[in-house]
Amino acid sequence: MLKGKKIILGITGSIAAYKACYIIRGLIKKGAEVQVVITPAGKEFITPITLSALTSKPVISDFFGQRDGSWNSHVDLGLWADAVVIAPATASTIGKMANGIADNMLITTYLSAKAPVFVAPAMDLDMYAHPSTHANLDKLRSYGNYIIEPGSGFLASHLVGKGRMEEPENIIQVLEDYFSQSGDLAGKNVMITAGPTFEKIDPVRFIGNYSSGKMGFALAEECASRGANVYLISGPVSLKTHNNKIQRFDIESASEMAEKAMELFPKSDIAILCAAVADFTPLTKSSSKIKREKDNLNIELKPTQDIAAYLGSIKKTNQRMIGFALETNNEFDNATAKLNRKNLDFIVLNSLNEEGAGFQHETNKITIIDKKGSTHFDLKSKSEVAKDIIDYLINSQA
Ligand code: C5P
Repeated sequence: MLKGKKIILGITGSIAAYKACYIIRGLIKKGAEVQVVITPAGKEFITPITLSALTSKPVISDFFGQRDGSWNSHVDLGLWADAVVIAPATASTIGKMANGIADNMLITTYLSAKAPVFVAPAMDLDMYAHPSTHANLDKLRSYGNYIIEPGSGFLASHLVGKGRMEEPENIIQVLEDYFSQSGDLAGKNVMITAGPTFEKIDPVRFIGNYSSGKMGFALAEECASRGANVYLISGPVSLKTHNNKIQRFDIESASEMAEKAMELFPKSDIAILCAAVADFTPLTKSSSKIKREKDNLNIELKPTQDIAAYLGSIKKTNQRMIGFALETNNEFDNATAKLNRKNLDFIVLNSLNEEGAGFQHETNKITIIDKKGSTHFDLKSKSEVAKDIIDYLINSQA
């Protein structure tokens, strides 16, 4: 959710400033880029060196470079950010924000910001309870800012009450929730099949394929990061999911995948069928290990159900379906035939003839084919390819 997000962290003069370090660590671990803007009072509580070491960026505090005549553009900063988080926010900073008193770099950045602003107050209980604080917080709410309410408990003053800045992990969670609800797939259920299937021959052997599941898992992360609830039906792979909006269902065979897909498809807005499903499965499965014999061993295979074709036949008009075609020859014609036969909205073609594309690779080179024609993409990492596919889906919907 926070991957690649640009966050301005405003730090002001409260003892809770030390907790800003944990906010930075948490955001960076989740892939965000953090720029600290600190007030003069904030610097009394925590050193810019600590903060720049954690963010790998110089900390911004002054309008002007003291020695070289340079200046920090609050306008550029305000436009750069995907979110502004002011944590801890003192009564003084909240008052200045509410009334536009732009006497430091943080307030000017706040006034210039186009991004959503989150404010985590931190102060003593009587300061927090004062009517002026409440009036100022109400003003911030009326500007569309989000207030992350302080908690109750032991305060630095040794008093006990409301005013403790919300814990860093909860502040990060608020941001994650915000970005997940504001993504272009927010509120959508997306079902994704991924990986290979294993078709049992006997208790120790199976028919499988080389699919690693990487493309399907990259799509699951991409959809979840854009706000979707993802149902990921995965064959046997050694991959992990990271986003908690992904619900994972591990299956082994094509028939187990089909059963799960049929259960989840009716509540899905979008289905992405990325799995390399076995087309055949043994007619009978031996209950004991098949012994070596002199003669050839014949295993009779029967076709599996084509999940995509079945779902395509029951697809409602408000459901979208994307399929994949991994081809070795007559790529375009084969993929187009599948697009039509399986009633897909579009099909993603990858050719095993392309260097760096297909099974096991970290990269992929795709062509998207739909009724209107075909679009070629460059060789990219699978997560970038996932982004291209979802962008295409969103744009073709518009
Ligand atoms: O195997 P084939 O090339 O026909 O697969 C094309 C598409 O159909 C893929 O999206 C694949 O996930 C899907 N498929 C399926 N069930 C099968 C075979 C393929 O959903 N049994």
